[in-house]
Amino acid sequence: MKIAFVGGGNMANAIIGGLLQNGVSARNVSVVEIDVAARARLKEQYQVIATQDLGEAVQDASVVVLAVKPQQLHRVADHLRPRLLEHLVISIAAGIRTIDLSRWLGGYARIVRVMPNTPALVRAGVSALFAMPGADAQDRQAAESILKSVGTTLWVDREDLMDAVTAVSGSGPAYVFYVMEAMMQAAEALGLSASAARQLTLETFYGAASLARQSDESVGLLRARVTSKGGTTERAIQSLDSQQVKRHVAEAVLQAALRSRELGDELGKAD
Ligand SMILES: NC(=O)c1ccc[n+]([C@@H]2O[C@H](COP(=O)([O-])OP(=O)(O)OC[C@H]3O[C@@H](n4cnc5c(N)ncnc54)[C@H](OP(=O)(O)O)[C@@H]3O)[C@@H](O)[C@H]2O)c1
Repeated sequence: MKIAFVGGGNMANAIIGGLLQNGVSARNVSVVEIDVAARARLKEQYQVIATQDLGEAVQDASVVVLAVKPQQLHRVADHLRPRLLEHLVISIAAGIRTIDLSRWLGGYARIVRVMPNTPALVRAGVSALFAMPGADAQDRQAAESILKSVGTTLWVDREDLMDAVTAVSGSGPAYVFYVMEAMMQAAEALGLSASAARQLTLETFYGAASLARQSDESVGLLRARVTSKGGTTERAIQSLDSQQVKRHVAEAVLQAALRSRELGDELGKAD
């Protein structure tokens, strides 16, 4: 499988790094990148083929991964359209619906849309995938194996669920960092040094996520387990409940999903 990336930014770098680490040969990866310095970096870091010639990269590839900013995708699609033959097209551009991309590509329908997240940069991402009916089982498998190189994957069978995915895992790392910020501030206010606050907070998130991941029990049960009657955790949870923190978090996630839908409408408007 030869893979051509269009756009060699953060996400493409993460996925390329993952693929090479998983044994894919650098000879089978090319990147179309308009920025000279970025091209040089890609060549140096990964020894992949880095070019500014879309035609050259696509000609030799069976898979094209669109990894430019959503606002740049329409233009890229215009250039790509006459060059598509039997390619699987994978788009990681946030918000762009397959029906719009397909229209920009002249009705091409062998498309898989992916929503990764930034922990992909450290191979701990989670990516949701949606396939157009024009993508067959082999295409789905190819897309899944590419994204598996930077974390776990799951399929959604309705594209509108991508707005929910964006709201949960796409934007999710920012919510986690937000709570981390609050915990570090509180830790410092209680007299801990900045470095101790950072270590205690980060390791607690990492440890709790690892524990929840390995456990068959619900996170609710895991929480109840560390909440003994009359204890410190109970007091903290009571404080969170009295501020209706769960309701506010749910509202924040809902707002993100609504914004994702709005962006999809805005970005997909152009003919
Ligand atoms: N980062 C995330 O957390 C995340 C999560 C989910 C999805 N995504 C999606 O992943 C995509 C890439 O994100 P990113 O953070 O990697 O963006 P990025 O760092 O800006 O990477 C895009 C790269 O493509 C280059 N480019 C622009 N137009 C091009 C063209 N016509 N041909 C070839 N290269 C071109 C850009 O160059 P210039 O800088 O010179 O324009 C830039 O180097 C986005 O669509 C984003 O929505 C990102």
